Amino acid sequence: MKNKKIALAVSAGIAAYKAVELLRMLVKEGADVRVVMSANAGQFVTPLTFESLSGNPVYHQLFNSERSADMEHIRVAENADLMLVVPATASTLGKMANGLADDALSNLYLAFKGPVMAAPAMNEGMWGNLAVRKNIEQLKSRGVEFIEPEEGELACGTTGPGRLADLDRIFSRVKSRFEKLQDLRGIKILVTAGPTHEPLDPVRYLSNPSSGKMGYAIAGQAQARGGEVVLISGPTHLKPPTGVGFKSCKTAEEMNQLVQEFLPECDALIMSAAVGDFTAEKLEKEKIKKQSGEGRTLNLVPTKDILMEVSKVKTHQFVVGFAAETQNLVQSALEKLRNKKLDLIVANDISAPGIGFQSDNNQVTLIDADEKIENLPRMSKKEIADILLDKIPGHAR
Ligand SMILES: Cc1cc2nc3c(=O)[nH]c(=O)nc-3n(C[C@H](O)[C@H](O)[C@H](O)COP(=O)(O)O)c2cc1C
Repeated sequence: MKNKKIALAVSAGIAAYKAVELLRMLVKEGADVRVVMSANAGQFVTPLTFESLSGNPVYHQLFNSERSADMEHIRVAENADLMLVVPATASTLGKMANGLADDALSNLYLAFKGPVMAAPAMNEGMWGNLAVRKNIEQLKSRGVEFIEPEEGELACGTTGPGRLADLDRIFSRVKSRFEKLQDLRGIKILVTAGPTHEPLDPVRYLSNPSSGKMGYAIAGQAQARGGEVVLISGPTHLKPPTGVGFKSCKTAEEMNQLVQEFLPECDALIMSAAVGDFTAEKLEKEKIKKQSGEGRTLNLVPTKDILMEVSKVKTHQFVVGFAAETQNLVQSALEKLRNKKLDLIVANDISAPGIGFQSDNNQVTLIDADEKIENLPRMSKKEIADILLDKIPGHAR
């Protein structure tokens, strides 16, 4: 954890005093910890305690005449590798889940783009409350990693789930999170994303609603975990993740050429792009005019099957394909896996509402080369990205 920058966010639970000991443990291991407190956390522990032990100023007042103009929540957010909320109260989780930002902690959370971990602690009634459950599910689906509380005697005098996880457990989860963050070091990963545009005339094209979110999430997570990443993307509205080699293209043929160019050097290829299967037989040089009342027949020819081309030339590469289907999901994915000699296929039913194209979430089925089927629950594309990256051989976790 040496020199890792952690924003330790403390909210107003009785377990706030335990965050003091956790801070000591993190600092001892070499972490550079910046404590952030909710507006109410000072009722339990003073900022001075955290300031003395961390050696850094504590960010606890959103409106502080000296520092507010500097937008401290943005500065802290820009500089942290990880945000760790300990303890996470029911109220703070509610704010995080619903985008409320009325104090230093909640503002930092909204501004922060990196990984977030939370260790909740509360009375067992609060822990079981449906509103709290829903907030936690929401946050999980957005990639927040929870260190679940333990069962036992609670400060309020009752017994049940809700006690802050043991500090050693929190500490080792944070440590392994950082190890995971670098587990793809030395591995070269090629990712394709987005749709392709197959032109019909100078102003029209054939395409699909792929947003590119899945591929960009894979590229971003792979880069964050230390991988050397090249992202080949069809047209999307997304910003390429920082630190990733980026190649843009429009057509399936352009994407195919880029894949062939980068394939020999990569260790893993993850083809999440929704590549068009057909292109116009003839590209009209001028805009096709509408003739009143008349229809138009388009002649389409198949595009090059990129994964099939890859299967002919691949050597050591671990190749992952995606199958977006509207029927016979597993059967179609299995056929694609076999025909294209894939190491893994990610199948998703694009007819299901609320997942797939455009969405931040997805529900997928993984099938590996031994045809072992793994049904994953609905989760964020970022979480799916991490599960796929865990399958790459040689990653050091
Ligand atoms: C003595 C005392 C202990 C509390 N302990 C907890 C707790 O462990 N977990 C929790 O979710 N709320 C607890 N609360 C309630 C929170 O302090 C309250 O919801 C507060 O508004 C949370 O503020 P914050 O989440 O912005 O820090 C406690 C309140 C009191 C008075």
